[in-house]
Amino acid sequence: MIFDKQLIPKNIDDYNSLYNHSITNPEEFWSQVADSFLWKKKWSKVLKYDFSTPKFEWFVDGKLNITENCLDRYVEIHPEKTAIIFEPNYPENETIYISYKELHSKVCSFANVLKNNNIKKGDRVCIYLPMVPELAIAVLACARIGAVHSVVFAGFSSTALSARINDASCKMIITSDGSFRGNKIIDLKSIVDEALNDCDCVDSVIVLNRINSNISLNNNEKWWHEELTKVSDDCPAEIMDSEDSLFILYTSGSTGKPKGMVHSSGGYMVYSSYSFKNVFNYNDNDIYWCTADIGWITGHSYIVYGPLLNGATSIMFEGVPSYPDFGRFWQICEKHKVNQFYTAPTAIRALAKHPLDFVEKYDLSSLKVLGTVGEPINEEAWNWYNENIGKDKCPIVDTWWQTETGGIMITSLANVTKGKPTFATKPMMGIQPVLFDENGSLFNENNKNGILGIKYPWPSIARTIYGDHERYKNVYFSAYPGYYFPGDGAYRDDEGNYRITGRVDDVVIVSGHNLGTAPIEDIINMHPNVIESALVGYPHDIKGNALYAYVILKNQSKKDDIRTEINQLISKTIGPIAKPDKIQFVPGLPKTRSGKIMRRILRKIACGEKSEFGDISTLLNPEIVDEILKVFKNL
Ligand code: WTA
Repeated sequence: MIFDKQLIPKNIDDYNSLYNHSITNPEEFWSQVADSFLWKKKWSKVLKYDFSTPKFEWFVDGKLNITENCLDRYVEIHPEKTAIIFEPNYPENETIYISYKELHSKVCSFANVLKNNNIKKGDRVCIYLPMVPELAIAVLACARIGAVHSVVFAGFSSTALSARINDASCKMIITSDGSFRGNKIIDLKSIVDEALNDCDCVDSVIVLNRINSNISLNNNEKWWHEELTKVSDDCPAEIMDSEDSLFILYTSGSTGKPKGMVHSSGGYMVYSSYSFKNVFNYNDNDIYWCTADIGWITGHSYIVYGPLLNGATSIMFEGVPSYPDFGRFWQICEKHKVNQFYTAPTAIRALAKHPLDFVEKYDLSSLKVLGTVGEPINEEAWNWYNENIGKDKCPIVDTWWQTETGGIMITSLANVTKGKPTFATKPMMGIQPVLFDENGSLFNENNKNGILGIKYPWPSIARTIYGDHERYKNVYFSAYPGYYFPGDGAYRDDEGNYRITGRVDDVVIVSGHNLGTAPIEDIINMHPNVIESALVGYPHDIKGNALYAYVILKNQSKKDDIRTEINQLISKTIGPIAKPDKIQFVPGLPKTRSGKIMRRILRKIACGEKSEFGDISTLLNPEIVDEILKVFKNL
């Protein structure tokens, strides 16, 4: 274990005293935690910050390389221990076990490939790969030489990809000829080709042969395996300042283009690692599995960095929970004797719809800790998870956090603090949540709903939005000066447990993925027969929320064709996850006198409410509410 025993609470009393220490003497506390890592040069000051600029600097002047902490130190301690278990899409294909020593060698070799292709410290590299070991290797190779990785989820469309490449001016893209997902084969390379038509910044493309597709490459494109033959596996780690950027990861906002959240090297390392150890109660020989994709923050922090920084064994799964059948997750748990299992409520709800045979066929007795992330978990799904997967003996950690926070913020700590169904529960050490009322005043009462804020910086807070610090300031630090504003509502009970109640802005969480409504509306509005549209979320059994689109048409013919065309447009420009479940054509939209769409009303209608819309007299066109309801009646 890398951390001093005193930093790891074993029971609720330890947690209480450590938590108190962490908020009364944060600098002392975080300096003790940071002492557990390999630094090339120690920091001169733990924290400098200013919420108004906003600017956060952790472990000031410290020098390090995160890959030495993930790899080199464990090559010394346990070179043969498995770092990554790769479970391929097709169960009949061989599992790959990569030891710390092998991973170190592969990362160093690929880091040399990056260098050979002119990538230098500070350059941005876009990674668009399926869930194969090379994805983790590419990420770590960038970190090895100080290049800033920007992983784009391989389910995103070419337009979404090119927007992200251009926003960060990436010099290189790393991709594969294709990917296997369930019974589908996806032609990733064509998506990249299309994206690159719009990207002048990319000088080189590295292509992994994943599906043996026999494609031929263009001039500036090179095969991963051929490039490897030109390099050695000796690559000294670039010395990084604590505050040098480690990566950019895009997340949707309620308006405009996606936000490239920038994470630092030192603070991110300390927090992702420390939270991993404590939340999951990871012990030395445990097998840990997070089912997320590395295209999301959960995969960055809790498949790659957090586990490797702890010398853990982390499973990477290429496939989907439904292939070859709905027992796949549990088959993998049995096969690898998984001890910690971390997934999304949407996956739990989807699997809970199928017969229990899919679960009961497998021996799940190795499981010790279960986790959820990405959205609130409803009681029914929590109970199903607890009874059928955890057999009532595994603590469930419901972890609240965000791309912006870099690591888990509010959660129970497995075997240390108590979980409570539908509550994320307590803050991690060093995290100070607060609640505001609708007037923006802080309140201390319990058993009350409010808007969540975070009072003090923590090491892995995103430092800026790439290329747009003003937007960073406006979105996160303007609503409540002196606090970080995550955009979520929360309820606090008598014991100080927090339940996250959902977004308070125009972001909808669909199947655990953030979708801003404005960018999708912009796309719907691009359809030549659309005058205007409004998108809201509504509760959905499996996805948590689904999208409901209200659309005003120019002319009413061929409605079904228009539905299909809108869906195609969205798939092509953002990706299939952003398609609305329902598209409703309406004669108009409820608007305020200042012309703002009253989404509150549309949300209620989408949820099936027929009255009780509150005061609608302030609307410019109150009669429209009845007209929209009429359309519903006639469905
Ligand atoms: C939501 C995912 C309730 C929340 C790590 C947050 C949650 C957004 C939970 C961030 C949870 C995440 N309970 N809601 N345990 N975890 N959320 O950036 O609305 O993809 O603001 O990060 O997901 O999503 P993101």
